[in-house]
Amino acid sequence: MKRHLLEAADLDRDDATLVLDTAAQIDQALAGREVKKLPTLRGRTVVNLFYEDSTRTRISFELAAKRLSADVINFSAKGSSVSKGESLKDTALTLEAMGSDAVVVRHHMSGAPHRLAHWVRGSVVNAGDGTHEHPTQALLDAYTIRQRLGRLDGVRVTIVGDVLHSRVARSNVGLLHTLGAEVTLVAPPTLLPVGVGSWPAEVGYDLDAVLPKSDVVMMLRVQAERMNASFFPSAREYSRRYGLDAHRMGALPDDAIVMHPGPMNRGMEIAADVADSVRSTIVEQVANGVSVRMAVLYLLLGGSPQ
Ligand code: NCD
Repeated sequence: MKRHLLEAADLDRDDATLVLDTAAQIDQALAGREVKKLPTLRGRTVVNLFYEDSTRTRISFELAAKRLSADVINFSAKGSSVSKGESLKDTALTLEAMGSDAVVVRHHMSGAPHRLAHWVRGSVVNAGDGTHEHPTQALLDAYTIRQRLGRLDGVRVTIVGDVLHSRVARSNVGLLHTLGAEVTLVAPPTLLPVGVGSWPAEVGYDLDAVLPKSDVVMMLRVQAERMNASFFPSAREYSRRYGLDAHRMGALPDDAIVMHPGPMNRGMEIAADVADSVRSTIVEQVANGVSVRMAVLYLLLGGSPQ
């Protein structure tokens, strides 16, 4: 494993498989235990540095570090000296001076975690940077697929929606390809990034044509907060063409699963009954996020198993 986890490309197939296998071992070790805690990172300090809003990812990293017995500092830009104009570098050096071993960073600027990695001695984990990457989300998604379908090699994964603004899509395309899955992107042409043709994925525009050939359908949130222009005619029109409702879900093969990284726009990219159906793995994804992040912190910080 490299020292930092900044993007999916930091993991080759062996590294990625090691993370998933370690997460599975952690799950097993904790299953049925009353005290869901391992002593592995006792005495280590993990800083969660969040410059952008987050529910799942922040809580998940906090819980992961705590379950490994690390000391955890949660830093959110709101309410800190960042509001007085302190730079990312000075903030990082301050945290470093206090002895942090790992910094988990979410930032609205693509590339911020890469910069940070030059300034601190510990490990940097990217928890989502702008529209760029979100590698631990891709790991937890891969873990969930493997858990449900028993394999990743040859699994047909269709990622649908706002690919343009999605760091989840970018990281998933890279990681799932590394792990042998076949990825197809389906989106309105306006919500596909320039250069998508060079990604290791097929690109399509017709969801109904792709669904019967999908083992996994991953719905992306329409990221209205990152849109400064009109990318589609109306929410209704978007749902009609690219939303997953119960009727469309019926076109999937029998054991196919439906994923969403959250937060969802229920009724927009995914209908409420689909989100709550037995095919949906949305709640499992959240639970798996903790195990996968424990595995990442454990492997990066090199704690010895106890
Ligand atoms: C995603 C994110 O923040 O990149 N959510 C998450 O981490 N679970 C996706 C999104 O915001 O739509």
